[in-house]
Amino acid sequence: MLLKDIDWNILWQEAQLRKSWRKKEKGDWDKRAAAFAKRNDDSEFANRFFDFVKPKSHWRVLDIGCGPGTLAIPFAARVKSVTAVDFSSAMLQELEKRAHLQRITNIRTVQASWTDNWEESAIPPHEIVVSSRSLSVTDLRGALEKMNDWATEKIFIVDRVGNGPFDSDLFAVLQRDFEPGPDYIFTVNLLYQMGIHPTIEYIQLEQTRIFTSREEALASSRWMFDDLSAEDEKRLASYVDERLIYKAEGCWSFRRKSPVKWALLSWEKRKN
Ligand SMILES: C[S@@+](CC[C@H](N)C(=O)[O-])C[C@H]1O[C@@H](n2cnc3c(N)ncnc32)[C@H](O)[C@@H]1O
Repeated sequence: MLLKDIDWNILWQEAQLRKSWRKKEKGDWDKRAAAFAKRNDDSEFANRFFDFVKPKSHWRVLDIGCGPGTLAIPFAARVKSVTAVDFSSAMLQELEKRAHLQRITNIRTVQASWTDNWEESAIPPHEIVVSSRSLSVTDLRGALEKMNDWATEKIFIVDRVGNGPFDSDLFAVLQRDFEPGPDYIFTVNLLYQMGIHPTIEYIQLEQTRIFTSREEALASSRWMFDDLSAEDEKRLASYVDERLIYKAEGCWSFRRKSPVKWALLSWEKRKN
């Protein structure tokens, strides 16, 4: 077999089908929006992203799958404007709430999906197109082409490395299968076949995190599961408690067994 014979789009689709959990639809993200937003307020992830990405004041940024504004909000303070796109209305409401509180006025939200017709959704090309932890698509090649088409300068993607934010040991404790699905290496290979050679940086988060309460630490693990029984809850709590250290009032230190790692891929727009 030759390298060029490998269809990374199909490998991506097959790896997605092997995932241990089903693909989240719009309604699933709506339900998760408030908790996701809370967990990502003032996130270490966003700070680390901006260690690598140096925004320019003339940029108009298109953030696809923006969620509650994890990147859209800090981007807004650094660039001309942000178009924040997500198919979950609850996520967009979380973003708007935060933007309002911080008196940010240069973010426009658009409820749309990866596969919608963006011209009909009045989404014009932007200098920068970003997808952070939101490449939840069946047609990866189509999504990458679309990002390239909608950018006039540069594209940024944050993609999972290996397990991404999931803790495989916790899945084992709950006696669940763990298959996290495709990670960034599929995206890199597909880009290569499209004639794009992205820059790759890695964002590795601190293994130890500080929480203000035990409940907050539990929530940082509980989100990985949709359907916990009372017995599962007990197991999860004892797993977390084993790694949790009470430091002082409002200060709990939690050490994960393995760190969370993300890949940051970027490339200059490929002009056809
Ligand atoms: C893990 S969150 C990431 C949010 C944010 N970009 C971040 O890095 O924190 C994934 C987001 O992608 C959105 N999303 C998932 N599939 C989508 C689709 N097909 N079209 C548009 N948004 C989608 C979800 O609603 C969710 O807000």
